[in-house]
This record gives sequence, C-alpha cells and structure tokens, in this order.
Amino acid sequence: MSRTVYVNGDYLPEEEARISIFDRGFLMADGVYEVTTVLGGKLVDFDGHAKRLERSLKELEMDAPCTMDELLAIHRALIEKNAITDGTVYLQVTRGNPGDRDFAWPEPPVKPTLVMFTTAKPGFADSPLSKTGIEVITVPDIRWGRRDIKTVQLLYPSMAKMMAKKAGVSDAWFVEDGLVTEGYSNNAYIVKNGQIITRALSNDILHGITRAAVLRFAREAQMEVVERSFTPEEAYGADEAFCTSASSFVMPIVKIDAATIGAGTPGPVATRLREIYIDEMRKSAI
Ligand code: PDD
Repeated sequence: MSRTVYVNGDYLPEEEARISIFDRGFLMADGVYEVTTVLGGKLVDFDGHAKRLERSLKELEMDAPCTMDELLAIHRALIEKNAITDGTVYLQVTRGNPGDRDFAWPEPPVKPTLVMFTTAKPGFADSPLSKTGIEVITVPDIRWGRRDIKTVQLLYPSMAKMMAKKAGVSDAWFVEDGLVTEGYSNNAYIVKNGQIITRALSNDILHGITRAAVLRFAREAQMEVVERSFTPEEAYGADEAFCTSASSFVMPIVKIDAATIGAGTPGPVATRLREIYIDEMRKSAI
C-alpha cells in the first residue's frame, strides 16, 4: 500500500513526491537526518532527536526548515495518516535547491528541503534477533572527521553493511587507530566484570540518543558505566557486547569477528538494559 509522505509542506502519495535534481542533498550529500522510533503510535525521545537535529543544522550553518513544534506536528500527522503503531519516522533536511551545481553553498541561503516518511515495523520491540543476539565483523573506519553531525553521507556505512552481509553477519563495527569507534549505524558497548564500557563522546562518533538514555538508565539501576575506548581484542574477551540505536534499541552481540562473546547468547546486562529501555520509552513516548 502506498504511504503518505511529506515534502516541503505537502502530504502526498509516495509516488507523487518530487525534489529537484539540483537539490544539494542529492548532488552534494549536503543534508542531515534523524530517525525517530514509534512505539504504540507514539514518538520515542522526540526531544532528543529534535535537539540533535538543531545541533547538526547549526554545525553546518544550515537553516531549520520550521520550528521544532511544527516538526512534531508533521511527525504526528504522518503517524496518523499511515496508521503507524510500531515503526520509525525518517526526516531529512537538505540545504535546498540553489538552481545549479556549485561547491559553494548559496549565500544568502535558499529554502531548505524537508522530506519525511514513515516505515511500519509491527512488533519490532520483540524482534527475534534480540533473543538470539547478532554477530558483527570489524572493518576500518575511513569516514570523515565530523561523525557527530548526522549527515546523509552514508556511502561508507552502506559499504560496511555490505561487507557484513558478504561475511554472513548482520553488522559491522568500525575500528580506527586500533580502537572501536561505533557500529555502522549504532553505538558500540562491551561489558567486563560488571562494567559497561563505551567510547566517550567526541567528533569521532554520533552522539546516539539511545546511548544517552541507556547510560542514564544503567546509572539509575546502579550499574557501573565507563566511557572510554576499547580495542577489538578487548571486545573479543568481553563478558558481553551490545549496540544501541533508535531502530534496534539495545541489541545483544554474541560474536565479534571469530570470537564468541561470553556464552554465545545474549548476556544479562544487555537483556536487562533492553527491557528497561523499552519499558521506560513506552512510558515517556509522546
Ligand atoms: N543510525 N552511530 C551511527 C553512525 C548511527 O548512524 C546511529 C543511528 C547511531 C545511534 O544513534 P541513535 O541512538 O540516536 O539512533 C550511532 C540510525 C538509526 C540510522 O541511520 O538509521
């Protein structure tokens, strides 16, 4: 069934949605995005995503296409028009259509492009993968140096996902200077002797909205959190590993490269954090 999508003020059937070939998102990957989860027809951590969007826009000197309240209203309208119970809302803002191709972006700016669409994922909080855990490979991190900005330059993450697929696993962890940065589209964690270890925030990784919530819940549950980098070798010997993102929540990892993690089944810390996260997010969704 055709979805209703949003393009620059209009709600349209997906087949009728159009943007210009001169749009800088298309020509230059000059755009930013957010993916917000919907659980029970409500938005999970909308505020967090709206704040990160504002930050991404500011870092790229890009205008916001509308107020964050208007953005919330569009999210809700799309959820309603597409009868989404569980799924995601994808949002993309680009620097718009300057009318030609030019490396310099237009000054003064032209109207930004705002595109949004929903994806239905019925019951995805009960994903079977969360019961078995997933396997990951490590690959070199050759992305640019501002990974804290959520841009649509996703070619290398797509290549990493294909490397994982060819290796018969679901996910790839990036490694730079011998240290794990993050997953191709999630943040990476290990657990050793009860400590939850994850790389500290910097320009090297995306500041995950799920990461912030999960670390808050972990600390509230008296779990010890250490924000520091770790090597793949340290991960191979960890008791547990997991990753977090808006679309996978907390996902246990049972194998990294050739190393089976812990007992090769989802560990107690990841399992507990997933339960807490989903429970709390169902309660606070708006
Ligand atoms: N990816 N790191 C990277 C590189 C990501 O692309 C993502 C999100 C995350 C986790 O961020 P959050 O918890 O805010 O979802 C970390 C989204 C889901 C995507 O590209 O589909």
